[in-house]
Amino acid sequence: MTEQRAALVTGARGGIGAAIVVRLEADGWAVHGVDLEDADLTRREGNKLVVDQAIERFGRLDAIVPNAGFQHVAPVWDFPEEQWDRLIALLLTSPFLLARYAWESLATSGDGRICVIASAHALTASPFKAGYVSAKHGVLGLVKTLALEGAGVGISATAVCPAYVRTPLVEAQIADQARAHGVEAARVLEDVILERQAVKRLLEPSEVADVVAFLLGPGGRGITGVPVPIDLGWTAR
Ligand SMILES: NC(=O)c1ccc[n+]([C@@H]2O[C@H](COP(=O)([O-])OP(=O)(O)OC[C@H]3O[C@@H](n4cnc5c(N)ncnc54)[C@H](O)[C@@H]3O)[C@@H](O)[C@H]2O)c1
Repeated sequence: MTEQRAALVTGARGGIGAAIVVRLEADGWAVHGVDLEDADLTRREGNKLVVDQAIERFGRLDAIVPNAGFQHVAPVWDFPEEQWDRLIALLLTSPFLLARYAWESLATSGDGRICVIASAHALTASPFKAGYVSAKHGVLGLVKTLALEGAGVGISATAVCPAYVRTPLVEAQIADQARAHGVEAARVLEDVILERQAVKRLLEPSEVADVVAFLLGPGGRGITGVPVPIDLGWTAR
């Protein structure tokens, strides 16, 4: 068994996930980062596999960071039903399954941490994102429940809620946003994406990773059952 505290991070090849892996390793964590090529986390067996791999690799598991995600932009009447199912599976059911399968190890740790990468869309809605907004609101409810059930066994749970972050997930939705809102792609960043943020910039992935590192570190010990917004003033309105 490794001496280091060990974490499982999903979506580890993506913008935010990769930054979290780098930051946690720099802080001395042993990190098992997984992405689509390791397991499809919309499926139950994929979630079981990555938890088992992390425990086998490190002999322990002290933290999980469910982060894998994607977006689909479309009006409700035209929202592909299979995309709704996939969004719920990846953004809501995967964090539940990861917590379920990792629970015993996190409790054995005595200081287990669950830090879900949710979104400002866990706290507020936007049009044309029915699946994403519903799943992110749902995962905040899950985090609150995990915090209550984890309290007696030394497990805390938080939901990090960033505004828009400079990652492929945001870049990929610019054309879809332009179509759904009827504006030119060049105007999407200013007129749609940053419209509700008080501070008109994208977050960098490293800024999200800094907050995750804090929540998983000694300073985050008393923070549980809550959303932790990094929203550039979005929900102040
Ligand atoms: N980028 C933003 O503006 C933003 C804002 C708030 C919250 N978030 C959340 O942050 C998280 C990470 O997003 P990102 O912006 O880094 O996106 P990203 O697209 O850069 O990375 C997401 C990663 O998840 C992986 N993934 C997708 N489907 C998967 C599956 N079925 N199984 C396993 N892995 C899968 C992808 O391969 C990708 O590497 C997501 O949960 C997203 O909702 C992002």
